[in-house]
Amino acid sequence: MAKITKLDDIVSLCKRRGFIFQSSEIYGGLASCYDYGPLGVELKNNVKKAWWKAVVQMRDDIVGLDCSILMHPLVWKASGHAEKFADLIAECKKCNTRTRVDHLAEHAEEHTEHISLDKAIAATHDLSNKVCPACGKVGQFTEPMPFKLMFETQMGANVDDSMTLYLRPETAQGIFANFRNVLDTTRIKIPFGIAQIGKSFRNEVTTKAFIFRTREFEQAEIEFFCEPGTDEHWYEHWKKARFDWYTDLGLKKQNLRFRDHDPDEMAHYAKACVDVEYKFPFGSGDWQELEGIANRTDYDLRRHQRGIRTLNSWYESRGDLAKIDLKEEAEDYLKGPLSYFDDQAKKRYIPYVIEPSAGVDRSALAFLVDAYDEEEVRGEKRNLLRFHPALAPVKVAVFPLVKRDGMPEIARNIYNNLKGRFNCFYDHAGAVGRRYRRQDEAGTPFCVTVDGQTKQDATVTVRERDSMEQVRVSTDKLLNHLRERLEV
Ligand code: GAP
Repeated sequence: MAKITKLDDIVSLCKRRGFIFQSSEIYGGLASCYDYGPLGVELKNNVKKAWWKAVVQMRDDIVGLDCSILMHPLVWKASGHAEKFADLIAECKKCNTRTRVDHLAEHAEEHTEHISLDKAIAATHDLSNKVCPACGKVGQFTEPMPFKLMFETQMGANVDDSMTLYLRPETAQGIFANFRNVLDTTRIKIPFGIAQIGKSFRNEVTTKAFIFRTREFEQAEIEFFCEPGTDEHWYEHWKKARFDWYTDLGLKKQNLRFRDHDPDEMAHYAKACVDVEYKFPFGSGDWQELEGIANRTDYDLRRHQRGIRTLNSWYESRGDLAKIDLKEEAEDYLKGPLSYFDDQAKKRYIPYVIEPSAGVDRSALAFLVDAYDEEEVRGEKRNLLRFHPALAPVKVAVFPLVKRDGMPEIARNIYNNLKGRFNCFYDHAGAVGRRYRRQDEAGTPFCVTVDGQTKQDATVTVRERDSMEQVRVSTDKLLNHLRERLEV
């Protein structure tokens, strides 16, 4: 029977086997920042490849994009991040630790990434009996105050023309900013989507649980543009498509669910929002957001349509975003470059947007947790990662049974022939049983062993990770045998 995974087991396996390390560990570590080691980078790349294959390669209605992290400051004014992307926090007067006010609530819901700042400010907060999670003192909090989540940086060497920029807190805005470019350079028509994978940065007040919530992370986002009125159809379409993506890659159905956002939790621009949640082995209720799917309406494109009209006032205000007024709705907003002309229906509109927004690191963590297993085999503990073949960092390991009798030469030859097709690993050190165990723990689906019989009949042993079953396969059929089973 599969073991109930504890996060500690995963963290320790990740460190021991080179999946994930603490950033700057040799200097004592940098909180909430992580580095992906040799196996981890393969896993993460495979998660990204599987996402890209499903949403770009296999679909005719989505194209890809890779935007810069640094963008014009007006982007963040128009998107609302410059003013509204903040958490309401309170500081403990005894230990100076800052805590999110929503996390101090009676039944703190740690499901939500960030709750709306406007709504948080409007609510009444009695912190007089609240306990500081850092020092345990009661009722010592300051008045709640907003804490901005975007990282600031300066661009340019000269004092006169340097400007304050932000590290993007989501990849989505780069997609909206390129909507017209993509329309003008491809022949794609609505309904269509733009997909992007990339780093995002948030100066999170509370980081959490290993790579679950960090300040630097990677997102995989789609903005799917559709005609107003068809948005509910596409919302349902994407809910199903995204749920199926996780289960097709091996996540157990019983560990995944949808959670609709409560109306007071929803972002101001959203008409509907649902989270795909995974039952992570930590947190108040275990179920935690893996991906958000939102109906963003025409909010972003309309805001950018207004944003680009404020360029002059931005120069006049010498880049002071607070002085830019975006509130007035221009009556002729349909005339801007971000509207869409449907040449069949002969009408112009601002498209609605359905946004499936996934976290790459969170997905990698969910795949790790779900694949982790322990079992007893002939009185010995076996740790293994039952990864889907598409996600396994190493697909095939090749061993000579012993380091003599010509076996290493044959094994090397097989390894050299296979490594152009799959990510392979060659290992000749130690007892073969130990080598199998090491590959089980890395999640390698197949091990190929060259032994005494290989010289006689040109066959090798192929051992499958989950069942540990071994079959003999002739070397000339080996590539096809593996290809069929790995589905790659
Ligand atoms: N563009 C919409 C957007 O960014 P979000 O719910 O804030 O929505 C989407 O983020 C996904 O990005 C989340 O479901 C999560 O997987 C990932 N994510 C967000 N903040 C994160 C953080 N601090 N660390 C790791 N992943 C994060």
